[in-house]
Amino acid sequence: MSWLAQVLKTSIGGKLVMAITGVLLSLFLVGHLAGNLLLFRGREAVNDYAEFLKASPALLWAVRLGLLAVFLLHVITALRLAAANRAARPVRYAKEHTNVATQASRTMVLTGLLVLAYLLFHLAHFTVGVTHPEHHALREAVVRGGVATTRHDVFSMMVKGFQQPLVSGLYAAAMVLLGLHLSHGVSSVFQTLGLNHPRYNPILRRVGPVFAILIAAGFLTLPAAVLFGFVQLPAGVQ
Ligand code: HEM
Repeated sequence: MSWLAQVLKTSIGGKLVMAITGVLLSLFLVGHLAGNLLLFRGREAVNDYAEFLKASPALLWAVRLGLLAVFLLHVITALRLAAANRAARPVRYAKEHTNVATQASRTMVLTGLLVLAYLLFHLAHFTVGVTHPEHHALREAVVRGGVATTRHDVFSMMVKGFQQPLVSGLYAAAMVLLGLHLSHGVSSVFQTLGLNHPRYNPILRRVGPVFAILIAAGFLTLPAAVLFGFVQLPAGVQ
């Protein structure tokens, strides 16, 4: 295993880690967006989906821990590569002649850290329920096996959250940053993996920006739909 540790410590090894973890995180985003778009199908669809995800706590925690490990690997490797980049050029030029590549990697670190800040707020809001406990506490009455009970009302929690312009605005800003991050990140994956061919390069160059726009715009529809009144709270929920 020591050869693996050695390879990962090199710059190309680090870039490979960034590419693989980036692809896994992008797949998570596609799945998460697909689940969230159920908002347009209404309360039953969203709450059934949330209940389904939590039906097997062992599996849920295995996936959560896997996601956390991938995420930490992505962030730590990014910071390590950025620090190595800096160390390789300890004396700053009197006049900064930043080339396109360093400009892009700086933007990646900045947008990445801002998306991380958004993610911490997002988890505090929807998963832990500390920023708006009154949204997180909403329950929906259901019958299970002939017995009346309640379940987490994820649909109403999302709608209540996005009815607040400040929350929706924050999400919108974060989605723009996420889009910028994904656009360059996905394009870099092709470079790292050496995927290029004169014939297909014009198409390959568009994959990153197109993917980024689809993901960012897809997520953006959710706060927008609530804020502009297309999706509303169910009757009886205030
Ligand atoms: C409009 C955009 C988004 C909406 C409406 C949304 C909605 C949600 C909801 C409702 C939950 C909690 C599910 C539950 O506990 O039942 C959640 C969890 C989560 N979201 Fe999002 N999300 C959005 C964007 C994002 C983005 C862009 C990311 C990543 C950068 C992200 C990452 C996560 C993660 C990591 C969790 C925790 C999953 C878990 O509980 O295991 N979300 N999201």
